[in-house]
Amino acid sequence: MKQYKNVFVFNHPLIKHKIAILRDKNTGMKEFRELIEEITTVMTYESMGDVELIPVEVETPLEVTTQYKVPEESIAIVPILRAGLGMVNGVHKVFPTAKVGHIGMYRNEETLEPQPYYCKLPDGIENKTVFLVDPMLATGGSACDALAVLKKRGCKKIKFMAIIAAPEGVEKVAAAHPDVPVYISTLDRGLNEHGYILPGLGDAGDRLYGTK
Ligand code: PRP
Ligand code: URA
Repeated sequence: MKQYKNVFVFNHPLIKHKIAILRDKNTGMKEFRELIEEITTVMTYESMGDVELIPVEVETPLEVTTQYKVPEESIAIVPILRAGLGMVNGVHKVFPTAKVGHIGMYRNEETLEPQPYYCKLPDGIENKTVFLVDPMLATGGSACDALAVLKKRGCKKIKFMAIIAAPEGVEKVAAAHPDVPVYISTLDRGLNEHGYILPGLGDAGDRLYGTK
């Protein structure tokens, strides 16, 4: 795959370890959900190296000092339903008061085109750093459309996080939204004829919620 300056693949050994368990078809729903959450928390730390800090006065037991904090009201989380919901708690571990918007999309199983069915975003989202989250970036259709929705709403600072990505999806998002940094935990080989990522982990929504 071509190199993109705004695409970041985490090759952290502990993320690799957790993804090995996540992929295993024998990993049950509870453990799968916990792993998605844990990986998302690590990814949130890794992707926030450029976060804006504000100075605050802190009184230690010894003296007053100027320290730096993230203004939590500057962060919003937007999962792409359903599977993106599994990542929300992982970001909330780092930013517990971040507001959450929801974008509902499902893929048409034949055309693989994303079908939008729901959108509710918090007021003022256009002034926040928005984490758009979805564990799977396959053809890239869902992510591209969700990014277009956020931009239409006026969002200017968006970070997209996906746990497993196919090169096809990365290329599509990087070409359509070169201004959006894309953070992924692992880059897989490609897609099968049904648009599933290989080796992948199967259907993330079904594994998170016990459907099918
Ligand atoms: C999955 C996944 C992404 C999308 C990725 O959702 O969570 O949203 O597919 O595929 P794409 O990159 O080809 O668009 P799905 O449509 O299966 O809906 P679900 O989360 O409700 O199961
Ligand atoms: N959506 C999933 O949940 N898994 C894939 O492999 C592709 C799309």
